[in-house]
This record gives sequence, C-alpha cells and structure tokens, in this order.
Amino acid sequence: MGSITDEKRNLIIVSNRLPLSVKQVDGAYQSSLSSGGLVTSLSGLTKSTKFQWFGWPGIEVKDPKDREDVQRSLEAHNAIPIFLDSSLAHEHYNGFSNRILWPVLHYQSGVVFDETPWQAYRRVNELFADAIAESADSGSLIWVHDYHLMLLPELLRDRLKQRGKSCAIGFSLHTPFPAGDFWRNLPVRKHLIEGMLSSDLIGFHTDEYKQNFIDTCASLLNARTEIPNQIQYKNRLVCINKFIVGIDPEKFTDSLQKPDVQERIRSLKERYKGVKVIVGVDRLDHIKGLTQKLKGFDAFLDDHPELQNKVVLIQVAVPSREDVKEYQDLETELCTIAGKINGKHATPEGTPLLYMHRSVPFNELTALYSVADVCLLTSTRDGMNLVAFEYVACQEERHGVLVLSEFAGAASFMTNGSIPFHPANKTEMSEAIFNALNLDPAERKAKYEYLRGFVNANTSAKWGETFIEKLSLRCRRPGESC
Ligand code: ADP
Ligand code: F6P
Repeated sequence: MGSITDEKRNLIIVSNRLPLSVKQVDGAYQSSLSSGGLVTSLSGLTKSTKFQWFGWPGIEVKDPKDREDVQRSLEAHNAIPIFLDSSLAHEHYNGFSNRILWPVLHYQSGVVFDETPWQAYRRVNELFADAIAESADSGSLIWVHDYHLMLLPELLRDRLKQRGKSCAIGFSLHTPFPAGDFWRNLPVRKHLIEGMLSSDLIGFHTDEYKQNFIDTCASLLNARTEIPNQIQYKNRLVCINKFIVGIDPEKFTDSLQKPDVQERIRSLKERYKGVKVIVGVDRLDHIKGLTQKLKGFDAFLDDHPELQNKVVLIQVAVPSREDVKEYQDLETELCTIAGKINGKHATPEGTPLLYMHRSVPFNELTALYSVADVCLLTSTRDGMNLVAFEYVACQEERHGVLVLSEFAGAASFMTNGSIPFHPANKTEMSEAIFNALNLDPAERKAKYEYLRGFVNANTSAKWGETFIEKLSLRCRRPGESC
C-alpha cells in the first residue's frame, strides 16, 4: 500500500466526533481523547497514513478569540473543528442521530420520528459540506464516517461541483445496516440512502449489513443491483463492500510491557487469587445488552452456588450520550439491578459484581483485560465490537475465553474462537459463562490461537489502507470492477 503518499493525494477524514473532545473546565477549554470504536479504528491508521480529520469539537465555543485558540490547539493534532451552536448540535446529535436513527439501525422498535431534529440533522450535514468543500483541494480523497453524516456525500458532491472541484468520496458505516423491512419504518429513509449513494465507495463491517443495504436500494429506490458489489442509481455506479475493521494490537501488547502496568497486573492477580475474573467493557448503551448481561450473570450465580466467592464480574460501563433520556433511564436501571445482585449474592468475603460507571485510563483497561479469565460481551446488536479484539490482544499469556453474543458484528468472524450465545436467553448465557470458565486448556488454546490470528491479520491499519486504496483506484479507473 502507499498509493496515497505516492500520488500526493490529500486524504480527508470526516466524522461527527473528532479524536479529541473539547470540554470547559473552570472556564478554560481542554481537550481529551474521545472514546468509541470509530476513534479507536481511525487512530490505528495514523501510524501509516497522514490525513486531516474534520468533525464537531463536542462543545459550543461562542467567543471568536476562544474559537481561534481551540482551533489552533486541535489543528496541532490535524483535527479541524466544525463549530456548531449548542442547540443545533443537540438536535443533530442527541435528537436525530441518537434518539431516532441509532435505534432504527439497531433494530429497536417504537422510535418516534420528529421533524425538528430531522431538520437539524440536514442543517448540520449542510454545514459540514460547506466547510469541507471550501477547504478540500480538487483530487482529494474524502472519507466520511458513520450515521451522523449520511446526507453528506450528496451535499458534498454538489458543493464541490459548484466550486469546480472533483474529489473521490467514500463512506463507511460503523453500525449495523438493518434488514429492509425494519429500515422502512423511518419516514426519511429515502433521503438518507440517496445521500449515501452519492459516494464512490461504501463500506460495511459485515456481509450481512452490506447485503441488507443492497436489498434496500433495490426495493426502495429501484436501483440496479445485478452486478456483484455495485449499485447503479441515477446514472452513477457505486461500489459496495465489506471492510473488516480492527484495532492496533501492538498498542495493547506494548502497554502490557510497561512497568506500571506490570505492577498493576501483579496487584490485581494478588487481589483476585483463587477467584475467576470475568470482564466486561461497554459504553453505557442499550445495544450493549448490559441489562441482559447483569440478569444473565445473576442467573449464573443462582445456578452455581458452589462458585460463591469464586467468581467476580468486573463491568466497566463507560458514560455515553448522557443528555439522552433513554441513556439516563438505562443508567438508573443498571444501578438498581447491580444493587440487587450484590444484595442477593454478596458475603462478608466479597461481592460478585463490581459495576463501575466511569471511564478508565488506557493502562488500567489493558491490565484489566490481561487478568480476566473470561470476557463477556452481550450486545443485542452492535456494528462490530472492538472490545472483543482488545481482549484477545491482551491475552497472549492466559489464553482467556471470549463469550460473545451472536448479535455483535464481531461474531461474524469470531464465532469459531469464542463461545457464542443469545443475549436474551439467561439460561444460555449462564451455560456459556460456565463452559468458558471450565474449558479444557487445549481447547482454550486452540480457540485463542484462532482469535489471535484473526485480530493480528485484521488490523485497523489494514482496514483503513484497504479502503483508501480501493477509493483511490476507483477514481483512477472508474470502470473497473469493485
Ligand atoms: P462502540 O464503538 O460502540 O463504542 P466498540 O467496542 O467497538 O464500541 O469500541 C469501544 C472503544 O472504546 C474500544 O476501543 C475501547 O477500548 C474504547 N474505550 C473504552 N473505554 C475507554 C476510555 N475510558 N477511554 C477511551 N476509550 C475507551
Ligand atoms: O459504533 C458506533 C459509534 O457511533 C461510533 O461511531 C462511535 O465511536 C461510538 O459509537 C461512540 O459514539 P459517540 O460518538 O456518540 O460517543
């Protein structure tokens, strides 16, 4: 790979969230690393590829002087902020993206469409299009990410044309794309899909999402989809493919070598001597199946009284989208269930559940992954789930077992190396946990080696480079098959 730098094509990444989020602390603006799968995967690309990253800084900055300061500090990291008024950002991010679109993409029913957030969604996509079209050079590759910006490819193509510029546009979705019937629930579905179809190349995480998208284009827009991996719509040919997103495994193995992490691992091992550790790391989101996880763990404790004080679940629930009521309600519900589980199963010797509702530093995260015998991931739907990859990267020594919901995108690739289960079935989850804790060492090793091979072969760098290479090829030789 290397055509991007060889040809001196500029690469522009666009996502709603920048890799750095800005906050105001005691009146001063400060930035810190953003969390989430998108930032993890794109950050893994920075080692090999140079790009500018456009996005929303996460906060309103009114004063022009402050804006300049924030802009300067972000630009030092190649991050270009697109400033938005707080009410517009709120309606776009919380209102439409997270309260309406996100649940539809994850097969949640009962979503109520509302015109005001939809208009804000359109407006933000327009503001992004204006900013990027203004700053992009003709010939640049523009790679747009995720459901917050589905209208952007169409708006951007338009605005670039008005300015006499021509750029290749790629789009990657980091969530599932639901089956057509479900997608039809959304009254503005056509606009969103037409927006995406103005791209030259569209990437999905799994074959299932890709096929759902192709089927939806055929049934909803009457687009031509007979040629594999291509969609013909309004005289344009769009390439569609699966690109397996991953992590930078070295970042995790390097962290485990650090003396302070080694020390932390030693102290955690000492603390949990004679106790099997199960770890879970999830954003606090409905799709992660956290309610189901706690209830399944409760069932497991009920089923196995002989394991009292011998198993602990350490669950990190990273705060997420805290301005959305559904997320606030979920947090309250989880606290109640966690309290009940410990009320029922705790003894003077210890509590079986450690529920942490906060973000933990990276080195603490890798130490936790490393000492855990099992990683339990219970997504009810999930674009990929990179935590599964990260756990594997930290398990070189222990060969820990991954217990993975069949509804995580990662299950499309990792089922052979993990223990799969249905997250809504408490009995299945309880059995899966028990089997994981009791897997014989040879089978554990075989499963682990399968997973390690997959994680090392499908890195974030490979994902990004492959996508960019295909996008670049697409504009050099548009007729070529995808
Ligand atoms: P999602 O994209 O839905 O958040 P993923 O499992 O794909 O789910 O990705 C979550 C990412 O967030 C992982 O890379 C994980 O390491 C990262 N993460 C978890 N906790 C933190 C944290 N405290 N700070 C930064 N990143 C975090
Ligand atoms: O996985 C989907 C996703 O939207 C990612 O794009 C993002 O990294 C993650 O969820 C966290 O979302 P947010 O940007 O709302 O914190």
